[in-house]
Amino acid sequence: MKTLLILLALPLLALPFVQEQEHAEHEETPLEEQMLLLEENLGKLRRSLRDEAKTDESLAALLAMQAATMRSKVLVPEMAAEIPEAEREAFVADFRKTLIDLLREQLALEVALIDGDREEAKAIFKRIRATEESGHEKFTHEEEE
Ligand code: HEM
Repeated sequence: MKTLLILLALPLLALPFVQEQEHAEHEETPLEEQMLLLEENLGKLRRSLRDEAKTDESLAALLAMQAATMRSKVLVPEMAAEIPEAEREAFVADFRKTLIDLLREQLALEVALIDGDREEAKAIFKRIRATEESGHEKFTHEEEE
């Protein structure tokens, strides 16, 4: 009986390793890490843009987005692995240029905030959302919302 119990308990010893592996499978890609920063700061920006007194907060969130975009544009999306080799280089170049467009929009938003042009800032914010959506449509398998 004792031996049986020991035998039954043996697989439990492997549990920490299994859990570790599962964790590894769900680890974020370097690009996902930057995207999560983008998302977090886009949310902050959306809220602070509503309040003229919070321009400093908007600028801080925007700067964090710019840094995340700079880091993202030199990374490679996971989807690239599924693209036929002959098309892969163009796919990655297109991805990088789309993020350069996103960075341009963020720089334009910075100018609008410095100038205190709130209408322009809101219009550019909408363009950033649109770029996010089209970027995800093209470069991820994310379901359309
Ligand atoms: C402000 C705009 C954007 C925001 C807030 C944003 C946010 C996000 C979020 C939250 C994820 C999921 C991360 C996760 O599941 O851990 C993601 C993934 C991703 N996004 Fe964005 N994104 C933006 C713009 C873009 C653009 C313009 C592109 C393409 C040029 C892009 C390409 C991707 C890709 C490829 C992934 C999957 C990650 C991978 O392949 O490793 N994103 N994004």
